[in-house]
Amino acid sequence: MKILGIETSCDETACAIVEDGYKVLANVIASQIDLHQKTGGVVPEIAAREHVLKMIPVIEEALAEAKVGWPEIYAIAVTRGPGLVSSLIIGTETASAISYAKEKILIPVQHIVGHIYSNWLEVEEEIKFPALVLTVSGGHNELILMKDHCEFDVLGETRDDAAGEAFDKVARILGLGYPGGPEISRIAENGNSRRFKFPRAFLEQGSFDFSFSGLKTAVLHEAKKKEELSGQDKADLAASFQEAVVEVLAGKLFAAYQRFSNIKEVHLAGGVSANKRLRSAVIEKFSLEKIKLRCPPSIKYCTDNAAMIAGAAFFLQQKNPQKYRSATNIIPTTSFEIW
Ligand code: KG4
Ligand code: ZN
Repeated sequence: MKILGIETSCDETACAIVEDGYKVLANVIASQIDLHQKTGGVVPEIAAREHVLKMIPVIEEALAEAKVGWPEIYAIAVTRGPGLVSSLIIGTETASAISYAKEKILIPVQHIVGHIYSNWLEVEEEIKFPALVLTVSGGHNELILMKDHCEFDVLGETRDDAAGEAFDKVARILGLGYPGGPEISRIAENGNSRRFKFPRAFLEQGSFDFSFSGLKTAVLHEAKKKEELSGQDKADLAASFQEAVVEVLAGKLFAAYQRFSNIKEVHLAGGVSANKRLRSAVIEKFSLEKIKLRCPPSIKYCTDNAAMIAGAAFFLQQKNPQKYRSATNIIPTTSFEIW
């Protein structure tokens, strides 16, 4: 079953064609990074205008890349939120129009559910449940117990900044480019992660929620102590900050794993799951456990993409085949609810 997915929740205009939830036939992403580098972050109106320009060419490119015609496409999947409303509307309106014109069923997909299903892309073996999933991206941070396909218990979420948002804001404090995560992680390689003692917000005993805004403020105060930061200061600040984020993420993931004794797999997903130090810290934390650790199979599936949306749609459709029809109205949402 081939599904065409559309993703426009933030600053990537993306279209992909995925077969049976895992086989990626095309994955096209028009990035707006160059555009937003000038402002050091995403300006929603500029992002939406760019989506309008790129949406149709990106869809046409995906069909050409997959060598697939419309008759072979079973359904259109689209991100319905959360995200920037003006960006989401471009994707949902396009998907509704195509669904109506081509008589295809329409499957709205929650963006975080999409990220979760990025771990199913290109897999060859069956993924076992229950799986514990840490989703870490620019807008979201959740710890989720996934009991079966499309069954999600949110154990914890961010109370303020998501991990990626903290990376982006700290990068701005240090005068680095956008997006901040890859920049911080690059300069942190030459930094001393023990030079600055930044707070680790583990919150109340037993809580699986996250909070990174205090950490970001601590970095700001430290950075302001000097009139001018040297390259080494910046690298040490970046490394110390990254270590504080990673320690909390890996620590909470491990604590949740210990709380639920029957976990079969542990997954990372979302833009920050591209972070090498996070991956190595999780491997270290679980080194004595016989547990399958999984990350999206490629960096391009960690950050926003449409393959994960088309992949998730397959499993949503399998779970509830009667639910989806053609050209339903999709109201974009900024809701953090899984459904
Ligand atoms: O999942 P994503 O593409 O978009 C959202 O759904 O928000 O995540 C984007 C976030 C950005 O904040 C970016 O700085 C962060 O992921 N990111 C990273 C890395 N690559 C991307 N953070 C840390 N290390 C990285 N290597
Ligand atoms: Zn995302």
